Amino acid sequence: MTIEITPNRSALGAEVRGVDLSKSLTADEFTAIQQAWYDHIVLLFRGQKLSDDDLIRFSRHFGELDIAPASATDMAGAQEKSRPEIWIISNVVENGKPIGALGDKEAEWHTDMSYVAAPPMASVLYSLEIPKTGGDTSFANMYKALEALPDDLRAAIEGRTCNHDASTTSVGELRAGADAVVDVRTAPGAKHPAIRTHPATGGKALYLGRRLNGYLEGYTVEESEKLLDLLWTHCAKPEFSWTHRWAVGDMLIWDNRCAIHRRDGFDGRERRVMHRTQIKGDAPR
Ligand code: SIN
Repeated sequence: MTIEITPNRSALGAEVRGVDLSKSLTADEFTAIQQAWYDHIVLLFRGQKLSDDDLIRFSRHFGELDIAPASATDMAGAQEKSRPEIWIISNVVENGKPIGALGDKEAEWHTDMSYVAAPPMASVLYSLEIPKTGGDTSFANMYKALEALPDDLRAAIEGRTCNHDASTTSVGELRAGADAVVDVRTAPGAKHPAIRTHPATGGKALYLGRRLNGYLEGYTVEESEKLLDLLWTHCAKPEFSWTHRWAVGDMLIWDNRCAIHRRDGFDGRERRVMHRTQIKGDAPR
């Protein structure tokens, strides 16, 4: 079977057909997939039947894996049921305890784990159970968002760093052990260039992490808030994005260095179970 890459009719994303990810990839298959991923930022593989070991093996083609991130306080203990590299994203509650993170709420636009010094370059998400409606995941192309950024806004962030807050998840819950942020200038996290260069493609992309508790260094809090509101409104424009409606067995890999993503909320009476890995990356430059 030969690998077939079909780009979406959107700002990013492509579907890959002709590969069974429960088997090891050949060197040629991996090269084709990696190049398609650089070209399209998000890749979709449908109809896969994967164990956690398969998901980890596929992810490791791209590099070493990070362990799962800290979740909200009420998740403490749930991660023990899984492999350290697998982050369970789910609203399912068993024996009074959530089996995964993020529940059924909307997750705001963000880049995964950008609050650490060397954030994961990629995330891989596999769907095991999905609700009838809702829970769709959208992606936005940050090369294109930067290209289209008005000159004055670009000048305002060129050469600047942004603090990426570590305290809160993308659904706005405090992570285990974190304190609520009272001043964005002292929020815990990591400082990264607001415009980064992709180490493999050489492309320049906006890199802002997440809106909540973000802070553009060197500005007053008021100035930073105003600029971040303008920047995030710009990034969220539909012309930069693509939305995936999940089916069981879908697997997506996305590039955190040049894409942001968000998730729709869904009816909490339905079940959504996803397993995610995160592939180690470099300090953004
Ligand atoms: C995430 O990785 O931010 C979660 C996305 C999703 O649940 O679809």
